[in-house]
Amino acid sequence: MAVIEKEKAETLEKITNLCKRKGFVFPSCELYGGLAGMYDYGPLGAELKMAIKDFWWSRFVRGRPDVLGIDACTINHPKVWEASGHLAGFTDPLFDCKKCGYRIRADHLIEDVLGISADGWSLEQFNEIVAEKSITCPKCKGDFSPARKFNLMFKTFVGPVEDDAHVAYLRPETAQLIFTNFKPVVETSRVKLPFGIAQIGKAYRNEISPRDFLFRLREFEQMEIEYFVHPKKLDDCPYLTKEALEFKMLVLDEPAQKSGSDMALMSVKDAIGKKVISTAWHAYWLYETLKWFIDMGISLEKLRLRQHLSDERAHYAADCWDVEYKFPFGWKEIHGMSNRADFDLKQHMEFSKKDLTYFDDVTQEKVTPHVIEPSQGLDRAFLSILIDAYCEDKENERIVLKLHPKLAPIKVAILPLVKKDGLAEKGMDIFGMLKDCYTCFYDEKGSIGRRYARMDEVGTPYCIAVDYETIEKGTVTIRDRDSTKQVRANVSDLPNILYSLMSGQMKFEDAGEAVETRKK
Ligand code: GAP
Repeated sequence: MAVIEKEKAETLEKITNLCKRKGFVFPSCELYGGLAGMYDYGPLGAELKMAIKDFWWSRFVRGRPDVLGIDACTINHPKVWEASGHLAGFTDPLFDCKKCGYRIRADHLIEDVLGISADGWSLEQFNEIVAEKSITCPKCKGDFSPARKFNLMFKTFVGPVEDDAHVAYLRPETAQLIFTNFKPVVETSRVKLPFGIAQIGKAYRNEISPRDFLFRLREFEQMEIEYFVHPKKLDDCPYLTKEALEFKMLVLDEPAQKSGSDMALMSVKDAIGKKVISTAWHAYWLYETLKWFIDMGISLEKLRLRQHLSDERAHYAADCWDVEYKFPFGWKEIHGMSNRADFDLKQHMEFSKKDLTYFDDVTQEKVTPHVIEPSQGLDRAFLSILIDAYCEDKENERIVLKLHPKLAPIKVAILPLVKKDGLAEKGMDIFGMLKDCYTCFYDEKGSIGRRYARMDEVGTPYCIAVDYETIEKGTVTIRDRDSTKQVRANVSDLPNILYSLMSGQMKFEDAGEAVETRKK
């Protein structure tokens, strides 16, 4: 355990430092000492985050006929959160130190001190283990008060009066606003079951112990889909093609966890056939989510599906699977996918007294659709992508972020060898030619080696050097970030070459004439 904790601290420190140094992520309000669990995205971070969002939205909303996007408010009517069960049940267990007042999430305390998972434990279990193992406050060694539940909702007031009649809540998930917009979306867009409503936006949780950089935040972003299915058709998924059914994934189900068995490599077909994943639609969306990660460059071996234990599931979930990423410090959740059944629509019908049923003209039935919910944390996707891309290249004495070109915040750097003799002007011409297609970066200062190193560290896949041959022959060199190889090509061919390289349609070796470079 100590080794894992050390690995975690070292990895997160390296990534946090890189993020701050290079302008990906800054602690929020650092000028005034900062706020725990709050981070701001800097120029490169904002680009990377936007690229992840764009890829999600174009894949799951614009790229599908059956999913529609919305963008709802983040401050909401209290009834929404009463109906959803969050006001009563969205709590984490908390210990208060009697001596210094320090507060810590009870399951985090047990994990930190004993190295075991305490997910889903009751307050009694926490109190018993603290007494049995004589666990005291990590800050002052004082005793804890009995464990209690702490609600994670942020409360605020709407309008100039701060009384109970004006209370509102910042949403802790984007999902509920999809349920409250279910009826207007159905009525205005005439979608037919099965269909999804998607949304990207901020969520807020007053986490007891925000930690691990972007992993556990108090303000974060989610990309969620509520996918509505006829309750009798949960196994009737037309998108399960041969390719999807044959797709193999690492699966750790509840029985395996209880018996201490290892995860298994399993096809989607077997996971459905053997009822490991309880419905075909749930298996399908897990497959789509894994594919989304793979298409951003994350290797399949670093992703697994872990089923929630029955006592770990959220109050609304009939079944839940996490997509976990293998961080250097262990498997951790980066995506949660619940089968929410008809819990939410029914709750909102009860609390609003409005009819949220759906008339299915195929079966001629009035039904309350069931819901499969792919729920992606954007900040955790960002963190896992950065950690996955981070590479210390000993041979070339450099740090390189091997980001997939579609995510790289800067796609192309244009670097005149020197400023004089018209090279800078040529560089600016090339910048002008490419800037509408790619996020380009122009830099004419410092040694070319150092400029390459700077671009490697922020994940720029291609650097274009402008030299005297550019003036004489109209050619430039293109340098590949990962191999550090260079080729020479015509300036006029750059738009086509870069497109082919970034879309994976061309091998770097085929992009031009190989250039001999000196090794360090
Ligand atoms: N609507 C379902 C829902 O919100 P969740 O498992 O609580 O489910 C889904 O959250 C995803 O949101 C997580 O897998 C994670 O990626 C992200 N997430 C949740 N809490 C977070 C936090 N405090 N900081 C950063 N990301 C968080």
